[in-house]
Amino acid sequence: MQKVSFTKMEEGTAKEYAFLDELELQYKSELADRLIDALTKLNGSLSGYQISRLDHSLQGATRAHRAGEPLEIVMAVLFHDIGDELATYSHSEMAAAILRPFVSEKVYWIVKHHGVFQMYYYAHHCGGDRNARDQFQSNIWYEDAVRFCHIYDQNCFDPSYDNEGLDFFIPMINKFFSKPKSDDKEEVARYGNNKLSD
Ligand SMILES: [Fe+2]
Ligand SMILES: [Fe+2]
Repeated sequence: MQKVSFTKMEEGTAKEYAFLDELELQYKSELADRLIDALTKLNGSLSGYQISRLDHSLQGATRAHRAGEPLEIVMAVLFHDIGDELATYSHSEMAAAILRPFVSEKVYWIVKHHGVFQMYYYAHHCGGDRNARDQFQSNIWYEDAVRFCHIYDQNCFDPSYDNEGLDFFIPMINKFFSKPKSDDKEEVARYGNNKLSD
């Protein structure tokens, strides 16, 4: 079979879906490559800053790695701004959604809200509320998010920092994204469509 014959999903057969499953499996196995490509494209963006968005991400991930953080934190830092190009107004959520099957709920939550926590460092200079993060003060992961942003994000715009290159992280990326903790179907079965509170 090269292609299925149906034009509406409801008309597909078990044989056709088995065929599509095989292709989907192959596609899933190439996720790490697609993520590396997307990361590479962050080179050059972040106009006005002293370093590119890719170097910002590499600098944060290098700091996390050198501090002995677990792999899920290193990967979360490396990909925390991956959504900037397409999800310009909601980049934290996009990065969190990409990481979600591979990380703990805590790390998912931190990445999802890092944009708000980052406001603490600049929003008062441009008419925003630097304390917007206070709305999450009662959350069990509040301090973790504060720490994440303080030591692996807001301070990672230094052109003199000797960060590792992307090549250094590629084996980690391949390993980390080779197998999700759970796939979509399991997530939905467990949590429905509204898994975590904001
Ligand atoms: Fe960000
Ligand atoms: Fe960032």
